[in-house]
Amino acid sequence: MSDVPRIVLLPGDGIGPEIVAAARRLLEAQGEFEFEEHLVGGCSIDEYGVALTDGVLAACREADAVLLGAVGGPKWDTTDPAAPRPEQGLLGLRKGMGLYANLRPVRPSPALVGSSPLREERIAGTDLLVVRELTGGIYFGASGRDGDVAHDTCEYSVGEIERIARTGFEAARGRAEGTGDSAHVTSVDKANVLETSRLWRETVSGLASDYPDVELEHLLVDNAAMQLVSRPADFDVIVTENLFGDILSDESAMLTGSLGMLPSASLGAEGEPGLFEPVHGSAPDIAGQGVANPLATFLSAAMMLRHGLGRGNVAVRIEAAVDAVLERGLRTRDLLVGGAAAASQGDRPPEREVGTEAITEAVLSVI
Ligand code: IPM
Ligand code: MG
Repeated sequence: MSDVPRIVLLPGDGIGPEIVAAARRLLEAQGEFEFEEHLVGGCSIDEYGVALTDGVLAACREADAVLLGAVGGPKWDTTDPAAPRPEQGLLGLRKGMGLYANLRPVRPSPALVGSSPLREERIAGTDLLVVRELTGGIYFGASGRDGDVAHDTCEYSVGEIERIARTGFEAARGRAEGTGDSAHVTSVDKANVLETSRLWRETVSGLASDYPDVELEHLLVDNAAMQLVSRPADFDVIVTENLFGDILSDESAMLTGSLGMLPSASLGAEGEPGLFEPVHGSAPDIAGQGVANPLATFLSAAMMLRHGLGRGNVAVRIEAAVDAVLERGLRTRDLLVGGAAAASQGDRPPEREVGTEAITEAVLSVI
């Protein structure tokens, strides 16, 4: 890595350009970075006819890290199997950059516990990490149509399962380090039905002896979905396959009261660039209005600084600033309880609706 980290920005579609521009401002205030911006998703389809060009993929692979906004929108929605789709850009990046490990931490900001759909006492203490396998399974298996029949194939190898399981075990170990808490991994599958899940369970169990300090539990995915809303605080690290991870991470995200708050990191082999992006989508309905919530992108930039650029100290400052701004009552529209500025709750300041620009300024001023 050169002295000045090279970051590829992929704003994408919908609110993507607004939230990535805000994150760029935030990063520029934290140090020296070299930025390069490229098209991905629907905007790339409009310009080049494909959601991801070879040139953009190459630029990402050569960068030190990639920060992405969001892709997709009604303009490009189609059920025609031959038509290009924005999501192919994201999937192409994941596969092309070898980003097999997707980390989605879920830690409700103290100021937002009131906006969770769950009662406060139920989410109190929730702090979990979804480790989702990102380059295998049904997302990448053979698929197609034959007349009025369609198929998608789910395939997993022992090697693919082992590497993501190790990511999960190591993450649990890292999270427990120095806290006195015990490390816990919940492996999620559908072993009562799927062969890939039985191989998953067998493989994950086989690794457990390498991690005697980590407690391992297996849950079936339907049960996991239920347990996540009934006892979220009991989870530590959840490790699961691609499709289950997609679903459970949205469910986990909602525990925090807004999908607008969740960051993610997608990582590949050691030393290779990672891709960092908010978990939420492109929100085309509010694009261009200056009301988008950039906080998940800020937190994704923090994950980039920590996991991709070795600047954990700056990451901590950004995370603390986001919490502080929320403590002051500042809210983008998606974060408002009941949709309007509510009266002060307990000893908290009243909520005040602000746009992308104002919340960005607020975070910058706190740091
Ligand atoms: C996500 C998204 C993507 C996925 C879509 C946009 C392809 O839902 O990152 O969770 O399914 O992986
Ligand atoms: Mg998803």
